Amino acid sequence: MSKILAIESSCDDTAASIISDRDILSNITTSQKIHEKYGGVVPELASREHQRNIIYVVQTALDQSGISKKDLDAIAFTQGPGLLGSLLVGVSFAKALAQGLNIPIITIDHLDAHLAAHFIDEPIPEFPFLCLLVSGGHTMIVKMENETDFEVLGKTTDDAAGEAFDKAAKILGLPYPGGPLIDKNAIGGNIKAYYFPEPDVPGYDFSFSGLKTSFLYFIRDQVKTDPDFIQNHMADICASYQHRIVSYLLSQLQKASNDTGIKQIGISGGVAANSYLRKMLKDKEQELGWKVYIPAFEYCTDNAAMVAMAAKFKYDAGKFAEMDVAPYARKV
Ligand code: KG4
Ligand code: ZN
Repeated sequence: MSKILAIESSCDDTAASIISDRDILSNITTSQKIHEKYGGVVPELASREHQRNIIYVVQTALDQSGISKKDLDAIAFTQGPGLLGSLLVGVSFAKALAQGLNIPIITIDHLDAHLAAHFIDEPIPEFPFLCLLVSGGHTMIVKMENETDFEVLGKTTDDAAGEAFDKAAKILGLPYPGGPLIDKNAIGGNIKAYYFPEPDVPGYDFSFSGLKTSFLYFIRDQVKTDPDFIQNHMADICASYQHRIVSYLLSQLQKASNDTGIKQIGISGGVAANSYLRKMLKDKEQELGWKVYIPAFEYCTDNAAMVAMAAKFKYDAGKFAEMDVAPYARKV
């Protein structure tokens, strides 16, 4: 039975996980609080935090799994896309440890990892299924043929859904990451209080930059006449804006489901934590006969267990990397 250590350091979470065959034995994530006050991730600070955290995180993952370094069969890591300085910390650490232990390395693309989150816990979706991947870096609809083969049906042409949440939160003066705060503040708000137009993009693609700009202008105009507008109408603002993002995500997903006839639906990425999205999906299960699968929260946001799961498939296929592989910021 293969035992793999997986490392994730693509953005602002330092994470490590141990997988034995298909069982996740440990899954450790440290989030970097340092970025909160800057309204977004500061790449230089993120790399330094990874340097500080990585040994502790890997050691804790090993300790919790009850597995010794010497029992590992391979070391996997996120190769990209992500922040280059952050990725370099995970890649260099993984290579050095693998060399010391004389075991192979496995490179994992961050997208493949997010998709592999669906295969960690039961119930596992039936193939083929459509996956809506919504995070701070991704917004796409993918048709999963099996555990490793998929077709991207649509993706964002500009911002990701998570960024649309985070940028609006910043306009409202909320700290980073703002998605969970918009979710929280929207509770009790009226989704019809303010109207934001649904982006009009052909096929199954997405665009969020127009929506964000309309939000910015709306808030700016309101604050001009009423300086307390945000404080006095926070719930309605958040509910209306959140409603537009979620209804837009679901209308594109519904189009893809209708056209492909696929009703098995998976959702992953940090935005899958959004309570309004989860509620709307429940309604769709009733209305359209969908069967919706959402991985446990700890496997939706950036984590190393999903990297470990993706690595297990590569290990079984004998797909190891050479020691001179380098990380990539973007997929070319
Ligand atoms: O998957 P993730 O942890 O990291 C990336 O790969 O980007 O996703 C982070 C994103 C952030 O934009 C954050 O604001 C958003 O997920 N997010 C949420 C919620 N929880 C996290 N957005 C809306 N509602 C939430 N409850
Ligand atoms: Zn991610």
